[in-house]
Amino acid sequence: MAHTHDGIDWPARLAAMRRADEVNAQANGAVAERLVGLVGDAPTVVDIGPGAGGMSAALATALQTRGGGRLVLVDAVPELLEAAGAHVGQVLGDAEGKVEVSSVRVDAASDELAELLPEVDLVWASRVVHHLPDQQKGIEGLVRVLGPGGWLALAEGGLPGRYLPWDLGVGEPGLGARISAAHVAWFADMRAGMAGVTRLPVGWNRALTDAGLAEVTSFSYLVDLPPPATELVQQSVVDWLSWTAAMTAERLSAADQVAVARLLDPIDPAYVGARDDVFILGASTVHLGRKISG
Ligand SMILES: C[S@@+](CC[C@H](N)C(=O)[O-])C[C@H]1O[C@@H](n2cnc3c(N)ncnc32)[C@H](O)[C@@H]1O
Repeated sequence: MAHTHDGIDWPARLAAMRRADEVNAQANGAVAERLVGLVGDAPTVVDIGPGAGGMSAALATALQTRGGGRLVLVDAVPELLEAAGAHVGQVLGDAEGKVEVSSVRVDAASDELAELLPEVDLVWASRVVHHLPDQQKGIEGLVRVLGPGGWLALAEGGLPGRYLPWDLGVGEPGLGARISAAHVAWFADMRAGMAGVTRLPVGWNRALTDAGLAEVTSFSYLVDLPPPATELVQQSVVDWLSWTAAMTAERLSAADQVAVARLLDPIDPAYVGARDDVFILGASTVHLGRKISG
């Protein structure tokens, strides 16, 4: 397994991340157009920690629509870099020539980052900075790769996703809320367990300002796939529950663990993968800042 600071087996998450990209495709398209609209012609855009490449593909499509540019994918995990690159190639198809796509395998926390990347007009870093031990230092590293006037777009926070009805008829009502609370505790432990971890005792707007960025703002967007659930939503809910259940098992009561096992059992009538009353409702926040000086 490639080294990241969080000890997470990222390649094992690829199938679920691909499905999440499908769920988020429309929202990603709108966000990518908005961000690429901030920068000039033929820009260089970097996607830090692209996962399965859903947003990378949206950024590539936005670049293609605006006449072309350069897209660099950056990840510490080779399997994800390869998957994201292949997905972008598939989406661009024959238009690939207009958008130059390349990949760099490096730890986003590394001091080498700026040496390995060209001068960048837009850095997109979604849900990756919180996997770095020193988030402020990580942001400062991302700022260093920006050219004058370049933008950093950091997707962090928002609202935790909601997936389950309040009363599933299995276990006690409110299971989804208890799993979300356990997930928050897991996240705190995940961060606390990183070597060299440093707290970020401010909100993201302050972190971007402290890193020297100007014009700091944020916007949030909803991902709303209401019931009745499609097969994609059902499978994504299975992905979410499997992942959070694995992360939070020992933090749930024995009764909740039994309920979760039933909800994840394809031959149980309560299986979430066959229910039409599950859904996806979440909000993500993008924090933006601009490098004014060189
Ligand atoms: C939670 S996923 C986010 C995927 C995608 N950006 C999204 O928002 O859906 C985290 C991604 O960051 C990568 N990653 C984790 N730690 C990293 C590090 N230290 N340096 C570079 N990439 C890292 C993982 O391999 C994965 O692709």
